[in-house]
Formats: sequence, structure tokens, C-alpha cells
Amino acid sequence: MQADLHSASAPDNDWRARAAWLTAALNRHNHAYYVLDDPSVPDAEYDKLFQELQALEAAHPELQGSDSPTQRVGGKPLPQFEQVRHSIPMLSLGNGFDDDDIVAFDKRVSDALGLVPEVDYACELKFDGLAINLRYEDGVLVEAATRGDGSTGENVTANIRTIRAIPLRLHGDRVPRVLDVRGEVLMYKDDFARLNQRQRDAGLKEFANPRNAAAGSLRQLDSRITAQRALRFFAYGIGMLEGVDMPPSHSALLDWYMALGLPVCKERAVVTGAAGLLEFFRDIGVRRSQLPYEIDGVVYKVNRLDQQLQLGFVSRAPRFALAHKFPAQEALTVVQEIEVQVGRTGAITPVARLAPVFVGGVTVTNATLHNEDEVRRKDIRIGDTVIVRRAGDVIPEVVACVPESRPADAREFVMPVACPVCGSEIVRLEDESIARCSGGWIKCSAQRKGGLQHFASRRAMDIEGLGDQLIEQLVDKQVITTPADLYRLGLTALAELDRMAEKSAQNVLAALEKSKSTTLARFIYGLGIRHVGEATAKELARHFGNLDALLAATEEQLLEVADIGPVVARSVLAFFTDPLNLELVEQLRAAGIHWDEGAGVEIKPRPLLGNIFVLTGTLPTLSRDEAAQMIEAAGGKVSGSVSKKTTYVVAGSDAGSKLAKAESLGVSILDEAGLLALLHTAGMDAAPATDDVAIETSDLEKP
Ligand code: IVH
Repeated sequence: MQADLHSASAPDNDWRARAAWLTAALNRHNHAYYVLDDPSVPDAEYDKLFQELQALEAAHPELQGSDSPTQRVGGKPLPQFEQVRHSIPMLSLGNGFDDDDIVAFDKRVSDALGLVPEVDYACELKFDGLAINLRYEDGVLVEAATRGDGSTGENVTANIRTIRAIPLRLHGDRVPRVLDVRGEVLMYKDDFARLNQRQRDAGLKEFANPRNAAAGSLRQLDSRITAQRALRFFAYGIGMLEGVDMPPSHSALLDWYMALGLPVCKERAVVTGAAGLLEFFRDIGVRRSQLPYEIDGVVYKVNRLDQQLQLGFVSRAPRFALAHKFPAQEALTVVQEIEVQVGRTGAITPVARLAPVFVGGVTVTNATLHNEDEVRRKDIRIGDTVIVRRAGDVIPEVVACVPESRPADAREFVMPVACPVCGSEIVRLEDESIARCSGGWIKCSAQRKGGLQHFASRRAMDIEGLGDQLIEQLVDKQVITTPADLYRLGLTALAELDRMAEKSAQNVLAALEKSKSTTLARFIYGLGIRHVGEATAKELARHFGNLDALLAATEEQLLEVADIGPVVARSVLAFFTDPLNLELVEQLRAAGIHWDEGAGVEIKPRPLLGNIFVLTGTLPTLSRDEAAQMIEAAGGKVSGSVSKKTTYVVAGSDAGSKLAKAESLGVSILDEAGLLALLHTAGMDAAPATDDVAIETSDLEKP
């Protein structure tokens, strides 16, 4: 690999050949440094070659190939990221936390595989970065997208091209027609420390941890900024593949990736059985702090591809893989006060105000106590020393108090009787754990603010620049009450606000205008109907196709929507029968909010649409719920009784009268394997992921 850079064979008499030679040499050095972890030249030497190539390309622009290392410096800023639909959804992983979880996982797997007594697993690290999909066509990197919601991500190709660990062109002779490489973008710990030093020196905001730094750097609209951030990449998965046979195992896939010039982490192993998994976990646990990057656990994947296929998927995670997480990070601190927060649905949440404490890479000053019962159960008092836990991006929580260190003057928390914001009575229904402000949207400005913030949020109407603080000001100054008022805002009203220059006001107005063109799913989600999260909103949009059909839906019709039960159906119905809400919807439509009616209908493939399934008896590996979930995810319906309308009866052991009835009616009967095969041919063994990679936007740098 070591090249003699100045050997007489270097054809420096011919600039075309010289440029090709420099390109190859620099790409080889990048590969040695970032992929093989074995630098082949000193930095200064690399820089010299790089400058020579830059000079040659400047003089002869036609020389500049798309895989030239000089093309990694970033380009013109983008106005926004485009959306990219993943051809195959990017899934998430199930989690295990202790030895029992791992033993149970191994048992589930080997039971489901039947005859296999000991299963081989590929073990690797769970990197704490951002999942990314790299699309290569005929060996050339053509597109890179974030995971997003698993089905749709953001096109970050320009940024990804600046990452020197990622080859712009694949190596070797087994290059596929199409290849989706999946893996993690991350930042090494020492690069993170250097970046924060630079931020400090420049008087800029520091990043909380390497993950946020990586996320912030990757979500830059200006790729020239990304180019200055030392990002890395490790490949660990695959999406689409065409033109080459799928390798027979996960370890073979990673070996092939290495041969293609892709970076694969060397901390990996193939082990056998639960004992092998636990040994890998312990070994990595011991060495974790010495690794140059942050990890939050390890990942186990059944090694053989045929076995992976046999195991399939449960909802949005593969049954053949598991993340074994390290224990969440915890720290001790003192509760200085317990206050309550009012959420957008009026929910009153007790929040502990803490003496600042550094845990899991960030300083925590508030932690949720969830609800009144939790405070009592954990017996947390003001003045107590408590254990605070922060796991990943989850909101920090108070785990327990340390009773020995309770001071004599520790005070108990008392749930207020009146809303601290609007003074309305706080009520708690008998069968609910949550106390709520009874003021509602009209009386309670906290609910109004929360509702408006939700409406404007990225996953709802995505009104860029209309941040939480701006909404607070607008509500406090009584400029706006409902989301419809947002669309009546004028330049003067906005420009009068604190810290609002005319230019920013114009930007907000432009963002409001842009938000008018949306999707039905985003609109429904933005309304903030209780129990209607993003997934349910998409489901409602898909099912009804247009808003009027949803507005007119009866409870029975709502219950026909996949995943919607009586509680959600009633909540939707109650929302759309309230005249105030109906008026709001009309005002929003009148303001010009629109979407393609019928668009969003095909959010998910629905290969089993119109098929009615009845489940009976005990299936060998799937629970009823799991089977039902898989069927519903593919668009099928699950019913409780067999009739002429039934398409399939899925029967396990000890199936009784339903099986007999199906036989007598001539309904098709499937066993579990038959169901899985049906889902597989329908392309639905990988149900689309619906969860998000939550990024704390407040920790991210804005471009
Ligand atoms: S595999 C089919 N392998 O974990 C499973 N994921 O919860 C797809 N992650 O979004 C993921 N290290 O960001 C896989 N070695 C690894 C991983 C890994 C980190 C992240 C990834 C993904 C999340 C899944």
C-alpha cells in the first residue's frame, strides 16, 4: 500500500496522467487512513499532493472527476433539504438491558429456528451517531439520506460527500448495479473536543456531546461547514441490492464492504449462543472508555442470512437482531424545588428543579417526575438528594431519592389546586393518573402556547423560524390565540416583537406562506388531537384520503382504521364535533392551507388491503398481537369471527371451532409459516419504521 510518491514512475510530465495518478494516490491515502486505520503518509505529504491536484484542476477544470478528493470541500448552501423515500424502510432495533434479556433473545431465536441448538451471531458496536443510507449506482455514490422517520429521510448528499471516510466510488470488481449501504455517521471524541475548542474560541455555542455535534454538522445546509467538521462513518447494514448476490451472512457482508473500500468497524466478532454474546458485551464494556468514539451498547445480529429471513420482523424491528444497551448514565444531585408544568393538553407534570449536574454528556437542571403518584411512590421531597438518569435523548428523570441524606427541613410536594398559569381548577379524573388544568385552550395560555408550538413544529406544519419563544411572546402579547391567527400575522405585528429584526420577520412570514402547502397527515397531526400522534395521523390521512371524509366519519368508520381503538376513535370524534375546532379547521382552510387530496394515501404499501384474517389457536413463535400487527401493517384486517367474508384463517395448535367453520366454508387456512410466507411475498416482512431519531434541536447549531 505504501506508495513512493516521488518515484520516477510517477508520470509528472503529463498533466492528465498526473491528475489521475494524484487522484488515485489521495484516494488510497484516504482509504488507508479512514478505512484501514493505518495512515500511509504524514499529513503534510497528503496536503502537498492535494494542493498539487487542486492547482492542476484549477488550470484544467475538465480534469475534475466526481470522485476527485478535491470535491470534498462542500458547495453552495442549499435552501432546504429535499425529502428522500427509502426504497426499503430503515428499521430500528429492539433493546435488551440485562443478562436475562439476552438469554431470552437467544432462546427466542433458537426456538424459532427450530432445530438449531446454538445460533451464530455477528456482534458489533452500537454507535452513538446518526443512521444514514448511502446509495451507490454502478459503484458511484449518487445519494445519501438520513433515516428520518424510517420511511422518508432528508437528502444530505452534499454533506456526506465531504466525509473522507466515505468512498465516492466503490473499489474492486464485484461492484453491484445498485447498493444501499446503511451505517452510522459519527464524530470521534478527540475531534469533538477540538471542535468545541474552536467553537469556544470563536465565541460560538458548544455542542453537548459528539452525537449532537455529528447531527448538527450533518444537518448543515451549507456543506462547506460540514466539510470542516471531522465526521466519520461505519457501515453495518444493507438496503437495496441489485446485480450481485446477497452475501450469505452478516459477517460476509461486512467483509465484502471492506473489499468495496467502505469503512467497517474492526470491533466485531462472530460468536455462538448466549454465552458468546455476553462475553462480547463484557469485553466491550471493559474497553468502552478507550474507544475513540462513543457507543451506547452493542448489537447482536443472527449471522446467517437465511436464518435472518426465516426470523423476519416484528412491527418495526427485526426479530433477528437486538441492541444490548449499557446501563443509562446516572448522577446524584439535590432537588431545589418541585414545580408543575402545564402541557398542551392541560396535563400537569411535576418537574424537579435540580442543582446543575453533568450526566451522560450534558448538564441537567430539570428532570421530570411524571405525575403526582410517581412523586409519592418514589417519596421525593424538596431538599432530597436524588439519582438522576439520562438515557440517550430521553428527557432526564428522577429515578429515586437517597433517604439517608434527607435534610430535616425537606418538604413534601403538594399538587396545586389551581393552574399556575391561568388559575383554573386542576382536576384529576378517578381512573387517570394525570391531573389536568380545566381551563382549556381559551382560558389557559400555557395550553395555547403548547398547542401553537405543536402546530408549528417540524413534524407538523414545519413553520421554520417560528420558534417556541416567538410563540410565547405572540401569545403573551395577545397577538394570536389560535393557529388560524398565525396566518393573519403581518410584518408590523412581527417586527414589533423583542429581538425581531425586519429581515427575520420577513423570514417568518415566508415560512408561514410555505407551510400552507402541506400534507393531510401533517395537518391532522398539527391539530393536536389527544391520542393522535404522527403515526395515527398518517393512518387517518391514508384511510380517509381527504379531510371532509374524516370530518364526516362516524365512530364505527373510525374504528375501521388500522391501529385505531375505541379511545382514539372517541377522541377524534369528540374533537371534530366541537364547533370551535370545526371553525378552526375552516379558518385554516380559508387561510389557504392545502394539500393534494388523495396524496399521502400511499404512505405505506398495503399489499393485503381488503383481506380479512381470523387468528385461532396458538402459533409456534408469534403472539396473536404480533401476528395481528404484521397483518395490519400490510393493510389486512383482523376479525374475531369466521364468515364467508373471511379471506384467511391463520390456525395454530389447539385451534377449535373457528378452524372447523373455516373448513366448512371453504376459507383458505394458513399456518404461521404460511402467514410469514404471504407477508414475505407481499414484501411486508419489513414493516416501515415509524419512530424518530429525536434530535434536540436546541443543541444543534442552526445554519
Ligand atoms: S442495525 C435492522 N447496527 O441504532 C436494524 N443499528 O435502533 C437496523 N445503530 O437507527 C439497524 N449501531 O442509528 C444497527 N451496529 C449497528 C448500529 C445501529 C448503531 C443505530 C442506528 C439505528 C438504531 C436502531
